[in-house]
Amino acid sequence: MTTTERPGTDSEQLRSRIAAELDRTRGRTALLTDAVDDDDLIRQHSTLMSPLVWDLAHVGNQEELWLVRDVGGRDPVRRDIDDLYDAFKQPRKDRPALPLLPPAEARAYVHTVRDKVYDLLDGIRFTDRKLVADGFAFGMIVQHEQQHDETMLATHQLRAGAPVLDAPPPPEPRSRVGGEVLVPAGPFTMGTSTDPWALDNERPAHTVDLPAYVIDAAPVTNGQYRDFIADGGYDEPRWWSVAGWRHRVEAELSAPMHWRRDGDCWAYRRFGRWSPVRDDEPVVHVCWYEAEAYAAWAGRRLPTEAEWEKAARWDPAAGRSRRYPWGDGDPTVGHANLGQRHLWPAPVGAYPAGASPLGVHQLIGDVWEWTSSTFRGHPGFVAFPYREYSEVFFGDDYRVLRGGSFGTDRAACRGTFRNWDYPIRRQIFSGFRCARDARPEEAAA
Ligand SMILES: [Fe+2]
Repeated sequence: MTTTERPGTDSEQLRSRIAAELDRTRGRTALLTDAVDDDDLIRQHSTLMSPLVWDLAHVGNQEELWLVRDVGGRDPVRRDIDDLYDAFKQPRKDRPALPLLPPAEARAYVHTVRDKVYDLLDGIRFTDRKLVADGFAFGMIVQHEQQHDETMLATHQLRAGAPVLDAPPPPEPRSRVGGEVLVPAGPFTMGTSTDPWALDNERPAHTVDLPAYVIDAAPVTNGQYRDFIADGGYDEPRWWSVAGWRHRVEAELSAPMHWRRDGDCWAYRRFGRWSPVRDDEPVVHVCWYEAEAYAAWAGRRLPTEAEWEKAARWDPAAGRSRRYPWGDGDPTVGHANLGQRHLWPAPVGAYPAGASPLGVHQLIGDVWEWTSSTFRGHPGFVAFPYREYSEVFFGDDYRVLRGGSFGTDRAACRGTFRNWDYPIRRQIFSGFRCARDARPEEAAA
């Protein structure tokens, strides 16, 4: 390992970018934790979720472990609390019973850690040590906090009581979008070896050759999903896999989470407010089994993860994969519904500027999209910086979700970014789109 500064790295620019990202992220964390009183912060709103005050101090603890102690080589701030905030040692359901830092102490702790991080950032040299090259560890910590901000937003959605969050509605449709898009057969580059803040499970870039397939131009909407419900989709075992039907019966599923009947219509509850279900918005809060059953009812299937990524990144004209559907540039407000600017998915057609070259819309933002794929390492995967980030989750238990939601920050969302969860989970901001094999005459066209 050498400690030479990497040539071509503009350290000053990287430092200020990191500081801005840390700042912006902490602003979101503060908003989500300051929105409720102390009782609400320490309460568990669902056994699926941590008390918000656990997320807060856990974010600070990870920042202390990786940046203050490892990158900075500084003395611990609070070594005594490491176990309390270790996500692997403390299952979510048990977290409220732990001797957690009270809200004022948790806030003071994350503030102290952050001050030390700013201090070490001032003097840091971005050497070619893998953890600090291109500011990777800082990027990892920014993404980690942003991921917890999305988790905390999901906790807010599960919280009972008066509404505390507010945001303007997402933009209205600007173009008519519907139907499906043919993706021609051929190889494309999946994953990345060059995106500096990409996490271990997105690496390395590798070639995947896919036969021709057809994918929805937009996520499945509430209106489409209502047709599935109205057609008795929840009462017909033939649309469900064996495991899916068992879960559907046990959990008594009959509609997406947070929906209720309202006369002949449906209403949903969003962050404490009820409103009528809007037909042209992507459906959200469905589990993988529900997505699988809908797709079967519609005579389709879920896309594989590779199909999702090719639809999102492949540029046929240039013959290469892009970082995002619209190109390599970071998302702007015109590209995608990200970053908790709005508190629900945008109607289909709201982001024409974010479409892929083949005309697939709203792949990024709005709703996480379930894929049919289990979570695996890409060929050549190397765990970094620790096995617990991704590798311990590889296997058949989890399904991959792609594309981020309205609750996901742009720092934690790329065309290569991978999320995973159990097929029964739906407290997350999860939706889906459908795909199918191309018919021979389509594939030949
Ligand atoms: Fe975490």
